[in-house]
Amino acid sequence: LVGAWQVMEGNLAIGVLAAYLLYLDQFYGPLDELAQVFNSYQSAAAALEKISGVLEEEPAVAEPERPVTLERATGAVRMDQVWFGYNTTSVLPEFDLEIPAGQVVALVGATGAGKSTLAKLLTRFYDPSGGVITLDDVDLRHLADVELRRHVVMITQEAYLFSGTIADNIRLGRPEATDAEVTAAARAVGLDAFVGGLPDGYATDVRTRGGRLSAGQRQLVAFARVFLADPAVIVLDEATSSLDIPGERLVQHALETLLRDRTAVIIAHRLSTVAIADRVLVLDGGRIVEDGAPAELIAGQGRFAGLHAAWRDSLV
Ligand SMILES: Nc1ncnc2c1ncn2[C@@H]1O[C@H](COP(=O)(O)OP(=O)(O)O)[C@@H](O)[C@H]1O
Ligand SMILES: [Mg+2]
Repeated sequence: LVGAWQVMEGNLAIGVLAAYLLYLDQFYGPLDELAQVFNSYQSAAAALEKISGVLEEEPAVAEPERPVTLERATGAVRMDQVWFGYNTTSVLPEFDLEIPAGQVVALVGATGAGKSTLAKLLTRFYDPSGGVITLDDVDLRHLADVELRRHVVMITQEAYLFSGTIADNIRLGRPEATDAEVTAAARAVGLDAFVGGLPDGYATDVRTRGGRLSAGQRQLVAFARVFLADPAVIVLDEATSSLDIPGERLVQHALETLLRDRTAVIIAHRLSTVAIADRVLVLDGGRIVEDGAPAELIAGQGRFAGLHAAWRDSLV
């Protein structure tokens, strides 16, 4: 009986092994496919991650039922008795600010002062809990989203480039732009010399070795994109680091060109940026504590004079 059992056990073992091999074959076939799917899933996920940096900031605000048309905007911005909080505590309490069309405002202040919050309100990523924000006297809440985004553009610290050519990346600013308009935008921000030196020029894929861009060049591509889009208002959260001195100079020069004849609010971390501003606002605890022309504030004894001296000494 024991012998018979052993034979049976042996057969069973072979049977199990055979079934297992068959199973493996059936299993690995799909697994191969699964691996391929997973690969494309990974690149899809990577692409999604790239966009989600932009999309996670997708405004959670309502479209107006009957939008006001604002064909052209001069860029006059006003905040009237605005208050805003992420929860019950108020981040910007009773905020009043008037920015005439074409003025370049540098926003400075410690971490947590409310600079980014202000930027997000001006670009209508959020609506104020109280008060009104207007562009050319139109409540931002009354503008259709596409129209608002045509007039008001936010440039964030990390310049987002998508897979594709340099031209594709610039053209995102205005998809119907001609090649000539794309290169004109690139020329305006001083990107043409660099692109001209690439073997494939504007057709260079931004991800290929020859076209891999430095942080400064990526920023310039983003500037060219915005230049092409030609908004009346630009809100810019300036990068603190990641640029070397030549890179910074390049970006600085491009910024001057980009901001000419536009309203701008720049969260400024550098001396050179403040130098091109018409006006400096120092924010503290959600309130404006200093407001004036850079030279005027530097000559004073206030917060900005101290910050300016510290920046100058550290040569940023
Ligand atoms: N998404 C958020 N949810 C809750 N609180 C936030 C959020 N973003 C910012 N805050 C708070 O709002 C205040 C202002 O932040 P922020 O506008 O980012 O300041 P800054 O850009 O000047 O560093 C801070 O106290 C910060 O903790
Ligand atoms: Mg911030």
